[in-house]
Amino acid sequence: MAERNLQNVTINTELPIKSTPAPGRSTGRGSTDRVLQVGPLHPQVEKSITADYAAVRLPDGTDRAAFLNEHGASFAVAVTSGKVGVDTNLMAALPELRAVINFGVGYDTTDVAQAGERGIVVSNTPDVLNDCVADTALALLLDVFRRTSAADRFVRAGKWPGGSYPLATKFSGKRVGIVGLGRIGRAIATRLEGFNCVISYHNRNPVADVDYRYVPTLTELAGSVDALVVAAAGGPDSANLINAEVLAALGPQGYLINIARGSVVDETALVTAVVDGTIAGAGLDVFADEPRVPGALLDLDNVVLFPHLASGTHETREAMAELTVANLEQFVRFGTVLTPVAGF
Ligand code: 8YV
Repeated sequence: MAERNLQNVTINTELPIKSTPAPGRSTGRGSTDRVLQVGPLHPQVEKSITADYAAVRLPDGTDRAAFLNEHGASFAVAVTSGKVGVDTNLMAALPELRAVINFGVGYDTTDVAQAGERGIVVSNTPDVLNDCVADTALALLLDVFRRTSAADRFVRAGKWPGGSYPLATKFSGKRVGIVGLGRIGRAIATRLEGFNCVISYHNRNPVADVDYRYVPTLTELAGSVDALVVAAAGGPDSANLINAEVLAALGPQGYLINIARGSVVDETALVTAVVDGTIAGAGLDVFADEPRVPGALLDLDNVVLFPHLASGTHETREAMAELTVANLEQFVRFGTVLTPVAGF
């Protein structure tokens, strides 16, 4: 087996990846082998799927239903992003679909249950974004404890000559709980070690090869840390995992960080908790209804708000684009993908 290294992800492939097959050549399904682009994609991905696979963009709005009626049965592959995905209705309107190639590690916008039932393979882009997402978790942690974004606003507002900036809370050495010790959770933990943090975590099951303290319930974890970092995958299984009870356990000195998915946190309960002081504050890169952010959060200095930027660096997005295209190529050539999502 040849080995190919896409930044952090090592992949075994039988043949070199690069080729420019005609769309459908290896799917061999005549007019049912086209590639559909679902939603906007990284320019590198758009360029490649258009030039090498003659991908067609799914129209938005009122043109969509007519388009799917006429052409839905001609697509074997959908290329999409975690932001958009292939949902229940769209998947049902693509009766010959055989693969969903997803740009992003998260694939909660794609109906993986239907994909499983129909034998549709789904790929994502794991590993290549671990560093940037973990870096973002640390940026949020440091910001909420040290109030750095608020300090920047203080200087810009010309308030410094009027008096010193209020003291903040030390971050180094704090107790941090990680919800979901997967690949990203582990990258966060490694960074926290450098800050001498005391690390514990909650997962469905303990992770075998780490020394961090495993806590069997979320409420217990929340009650024993200074900050809770959410790094669990989104989707129906994790919906509203961080609820009012967990936030109450985190308590008035505790901070919540979310770099996972807005759906993992009960956002209404979170807003109440940061407004009424049930918790000390929150650092959020993700929201329940992006790009909409609850208005009540906008004026709070104990909350730091990022516009879902965790993987948003040139380097990481390029690596994600490269892996997305490599997955498509692998599917077209061999009917498999390099990085299938769990269970596929
Ligand atoms: C991307 C992400 O911005 O990979 C993920 O799951 O949340 C982000 O890195 C997003 O998926 C791209 O649509």
